[in-house]
Amino acid sequence: MSDKFAGLTQSQLDAHWMPFTANRQFKKDPRILSAADGCYYTDAQGRQVFDGLSGLWTCGLGHNIPEITEAVSNQLKELDYSPAFQFGHTKSFQFAERITQFMPDGLNRVFFTNSGSEAVETSLKIARAYWRQKGQPSKTRLIGRAKGYHGVNFGGISVGGIGTNRAIFGETLTTDHLRHTLLPENAFSKGMPEKGAELADDLTELIALHDASNIAAVIVEPMAGSCGVLPPPVGYLQRLRDICTDNNILLIFDEVICGFGRMGAKTGSEAFNVTPDIITLAKQITNGALPLGATVFKQEIYDTFMDTDAPEYMLELPHGYTYSAHPVPCAAGLAALDVLEQQQLIPRVARTAVHFEKTIHELKDCPNVVDIRNYGLASGITLHPYPGEPAKRPFEVAMNMWDKGFYVRYGGDTIQLGLPFIVEESQIDSVVSALSESLDECA
Ligand SMILES: Cc1ncc(COP(=O)(O)O)c(C=O)c1O
Repeated sequence: MSDKFAGLTQSQLDAHWMPFTANRQFKKDPRILSAADGCYYTDAQGRQVFDGLSGLWTCGLGHNIPEITEAVSNQLKELDYSPAFQFGHTKSFQFAERITQFMPDGLNRVFFTNSGSEAVETSLKIARAYWRQKGQPSKTRLIGRAKGYHGVNFGGISVGGIGTNRAIFGETLTTDHLRHTLLPENAFSKGMPEKGAELADDLTELIALHDASNIAAVIVEPMAGSCGVLPPPVGYLQRLRDICTDNNILLIFDEVICGFGRMGAKTGSEAFNVTPDIITLAKQITNGALPLGATVFKQEIYDTFMDTDAPEYMLELPHGYTYSAHPVPCAAGLAALDVLEQQQLIPRVARTAVHFEKTIHELKDCPNVVDIRNYGLASGITLHPYPGEPAKRPFEVAMNMWDKGFYVRYGGDTIQLGLPFIVEESQIDSVVSALSESLDECA
């Protein structure tokens, strides 16, 4: 195989409107992946390409995991679909309990969705409904944070803080945003930056403005991922937690990237030692093999809905998806969490992260590097932009890396790495050395 078009006709390429993709550029010069195993993709030309982002932060276990393949195949033969509403199947209950074993104490009620975006919508809707159930219907306002990414549905972009993901869609929900935590004085911090805990006090100001009686919830990523990997400043999340607790505001951690090992801990909550009221999950939950998301609630939230005088045959919550708790992704997820645990990959991430941190910061003096951030097996490298074209240089570097046989993510003015949990130190050295060359070549 040497055809980078993989035999696809132009009309086939044109028919698919690709998500978050420069369609015009891609369809002239496609990057088609045809197989994957371990830490490598094979592209349509038969090249081995190192997977520097674990798929899309999804495939920490590596690719082609036999246990997942077998679980999915068996599940399809046994029960391919079960109606999500009013009927159940064993896997979803087993999986829900399994998920709670990875969550902080007290977060033990799981609502299934199909994606991170839906997990976020579910968290926002239930946060509002919760206060109504408690007789406080004015608590509706949702607060996000600048640079936050919470998926692409209307609730998610409303609390989201990446302007380009919102601008062309017009009116969103009425929300507010905390300032982001990317401070120039923290540049090149290793792990959690020292400065910025006081930025959490933005919430106090928003409470002064709107009154807590009108605020339902605050949502943040414990480590912001999509905007370029921003670990939280020391003390920041705890301060947010304290302000939420003092003012009866729900705290939601969007752990779609952080959950299940990426931080070298079960969750971002565990890594940063702060427990929210609600956690959203997706991506690593099935190792990316099948789409599935989940929103996990502390028990009191669930109990508030169950504690009702309405007749038992009535629904407690009019929300859910045709594919909520689909048996096949639940089977994939059960297998994925087993592998994660049996191979002890979470402590492995914590160990490997030490070498990764040291190595990635060696790029400090490469051309155009203005900041490097890291936590666990995640890193963001900010590049000095071409005037008026912030996204161009990362695109050039990522394409240069692709030509060298490395897949890395680029977005805004950053290059992002989210290495597989099974990565070897020698593979870390290779990807970082290729990045160093690419930065030189694209200077
Ligand atoms: C923190 C966070 N929340 C939500 C999402 C949206 O997830 P999905 O693309 O599965 O809808 C993402 C995706 O990258 C994410 O990183």
